[in-house]
Amino acid sequence: MRVARLINLIPAFVLTVLVGTAMAADPAQPVAKLTSADCVKCHEAPPRDIAANGGKHKTEVTCQDCHQGHPPKVKHPIPQCNMCHTDKPHFKLQGCLGCHTNPHTPKIIKFGNNVTDPCLTCHTQQIQQLRANPSKHTALACSFCHNVHGFKPACTKCHNSHSADITAKDCSACHKAHQPKNVTYKSDIPPKYCAACHKRAYTLLSASPFKHSKLSCAYCHKDKHKTVPQCTQCHGKPHAAAIHAKFTKCGDCHNIAHDLNHFVQDAEAKKAAAAPAAPAAPAEKAPAKAVKHKKK
Ligand code: HEC
Ligand code: HEC
Ligand code: HEC
Ligand code: HEC
Ligand code: HEC
Ligand code: HEC
Ligand code: HEC
Ligand code: HEC
Ligand code: HEC
Ligand code: HEC
Ligand code: HEC
Ligand code: HEC
Repeated sequence: MRVARLINLIPAFVLTVLVGTAMAADPAQPVAKLTSADCVKCHEAPPRDIAANGGKHKTEVTCQDCHQGHPPKVKHPIPQCNMCHTDKPHFKLQGCLGCHTNPHTPKIIKFGNNVTDPCLTCHTQQIQQLRANPSKHTALACSFCHNVHGFKPACTKCHNSHSADITAKDCSACHKAHQPKNVTYKSDIPPKYCAACHKRAYTLLSASPFKHSKLSCAYCHKDKHKTVPQCTQCHGKPHAAAIHAKFTKCGDCHNIAHDLNHFVQDAEAKKAAAAPAAPAAPAEKAPAKAVKHKKK
């Protein structure tokens, strides 16, 4: 209390002294002027804050551009932000000091985890993506994820990975934050990533002795999740027209892409079964089979 009262007395005293000195030095001058250099004599925090983090409020304006006048002459010399900031949609917001908590450190910004509309005064792309690709992220506030301005959270801050093979930096190979259900990937996506959810396809294909096992998942399932190719996209119709006319699906003979039918081996097995008396045949075939197996 005592300190407060003492401080209250200071301006009148100082201003009297200043005015008195000025009068004595040059009687022609009406009053001594309070300058921005004087403020620090009585106000500690604002000059210190501005010196440390004033940004353009340090370099582009002075104390007195904002504080025009001083008590007791001017009662409450606090400026409105829109005295200087006009024109942009951002400057039409309410409660500037809710985020720019201290005008003397304007770039230090704080906000709660429920902010969306104010972000849209500067960022428009993200909300368009979120709305055009509805997901549960669309219902979240921007600052639920970006709780500090400019901070981009890792997906793994809120979600577990699909498998140990997929680490935090890999999520973006398939997902984008503002359209998380729109899963796309490049051709070099490792099959192990798909295996996190498609164990059966991965195991079947890996075990297959045919050339498809040398291809990556994304080589056939291109670009976008759930794309399923036709055999004919890559192979055309390789057999006699009569055969394709009779059997409309390649799978009638070849089974599925991950597990093609073993025609040659099956035929050999049948031949072997049909001629059990011929002792030379298996011996002849055996090495050829071994070579084939080595290839896989
Ligand atoms: C001689 C000491 C002294 C100097 C120099 C001084 N002030 Fe003050 N200032 C005070 C005191 C004391 C108060 C409190 C006055 C009151 O509440 O009536 C005050 C109050 C203020 C307020 C608060 C007004 C409000 O309504 O909350 C502002 C803003 C301010 N000063 C800015 C400045 C600026 C800018 C300068 C430099 C140009 C400056 N002061 C120089 C002593 C000083
Ligand atoms: C860009 C405009 C701007 C500039 C530049 C500025 N201020 Fe302020 N100042 C404000 C606003 C706005 C408030 C009111 C803050 C609030 O309501 O929380 C304020 C509050 C104050 C206060 C009263 C509250 C407090 O923090 O003690 C003082 C004293 C003050 N300023 C002094 C200064 C001094 C000294 C300078 C120069 C070193 C300065 N200001 C520069 C805008 C400015
Ligand atoms: C007396 C004029 C004036 C007032 C009042 C004023 N500003 Fe400023 N402010 C400026 C100028 C000039 C700049 C630099 C040019 C620009 O960015 O527009 C600036 C820049 C800023 C910046 C960017 C700072 C940087 O370093 O890039 C922020 C943020 C800001 N002002 C917020 C505010 C807020 C919030 C208020 C109200 C509490 C306010 N200003 C009041 C004049 C003012
Ligand atoms: C929801 C929080 C929030 C509110 C409310 C808010 N701002 Fe900002 N403001 C920001 C963010 C975030 C930035 C971007 C800072 C950056 O670029 O690093 C910013 C930047 C600025 C800038 C500098 C960039 C520019 O476009 O010139 C100024 C000036 C500014 N704000 C003034 C204001 C004024 C005036 C108000 C009130 C009418 C206000 N702000 C209300 C969060 C807010
Ligand atoms: C006054 C304008 C303004 C406001 C308001 C604003 N920002 Fe920004 N924001 C910027 C600027 C300028 C940048 C830096 C340039 C850039 O990368 O676009 C930026 C950068 C970002 C970045 C990092 C971008 C990157 O590529 O690394 C994110 C994330 C971000 N803002 C989110 C938000 C969120 C969330 C809000 C609302 C809470 C918000 N911004 C409010 C102007 C603003
Ligand atoms: C700050 C937390 C947070 C971060 C960071 C985050 N998410 Fe989410 N995500 C959520 C919440 C909350 C839900 C809704 C969960 C629910 O309701 O079950 C969600 C849901 C999802 C969904 C399901 C969407 C739907 O509509 O079914 C996917 C996919 C998703 N997130 C992927 C990601 C990816 C990829 C990233 C990184 C780019 C990420 N998330 C970052 C919080 C987060
Ligand atoms: C579920 C969490 C989440 C939500 C909600 C969210 N973002 Fe993001 N945002 C991210 C992540 C994570 C990144 C990093 C890039 C990525 O992984 O796709 C990002 C990137 C950004 C970027 C950098 C540029 C870009 O587009 O990649 C900006 C700017 C941005 N977000 C603004 C916003 C705004 C504005 C909103 C609200 C309309 C918003 N974000 C909502 C998580 C989120
Ligand atoms: C190889 C591509 C791929 C990678 C890499 C990937 N995801 Fe996914 N993710 C998917 C697919 C596909 C779905 C959708 C499954 C569906 O339709 O149900 C999905 C769904 C999700 C979901 C929705 C809930 C669920 O589990 O079904 C979340 C959350 C998610 N992913 C988070 C992540 C995170 C976190 C990472 C990084 C650690 C990540 N994803 C990496 C492909 C991927
Ligand atoms: C997070 C788990 C997850 C990941 C990772 C994932 N998928 Fe899927 N995938 C699913 C789910 C769930 C379905 C839907 C299954 C259903 O409808 O029976 C699906 C369906 C598919 C389908 C079948 C579409 C149809 O019409 O039958 C293909 C093809 C597919 N995924 C390929 C891939 C490929 C290639 C990858 C790796 C780039 C991958 N998936 C990664 C979960 C995932
Ligand atoms: C995205 C392209 C693509 C699709 C779709 C595709 N294949 Fe293939 N297929 C290949 C390639 C590449 C080879 C290896 C060719 C080579 O090396 O000579 C191959 C090889 C084969 C072979 C020979 C296998 C071997 O080991 O000698 C058969 C049989 C075959 N494919 C049948 C099919 C059938 C049936 C389908 C549909 C169920 C299909 N393919 C779908 C690309 C594809
Ligand atoms: C040679 C091309 C090719 C490769 C390589 C391939 N697929 Fe397929 N996949 C297909 C075709 C074609 C179908 C449709 C069924 C059929 O006719 O064989 C299919 C069907 C699927 C299906 C849906 C039916 C099912 O089996 O559940 C899933 C899921 C799938 N593939 C995932 C994968 C994954 C994961 C990989 C990598 C481990 C992979 N595929 C590698 C061509 C391929
Ligand atoms: C009537 C049964 C049958 C049908 C239907 C059939 N194929 Fe075949 N295909 C075979 C047989 C038998 C072979 C030879 C097997 C071997 O050499 O291993 C073969 C071989 C192939 C080969 C390997 C050719 C080479 O030169 O290595 C490809 C690729 C192939 N078929 C693709 C297809 C496609 C694509 C379709 C559907 C458009 C299809 N087939 C329909 C029976 C069939």
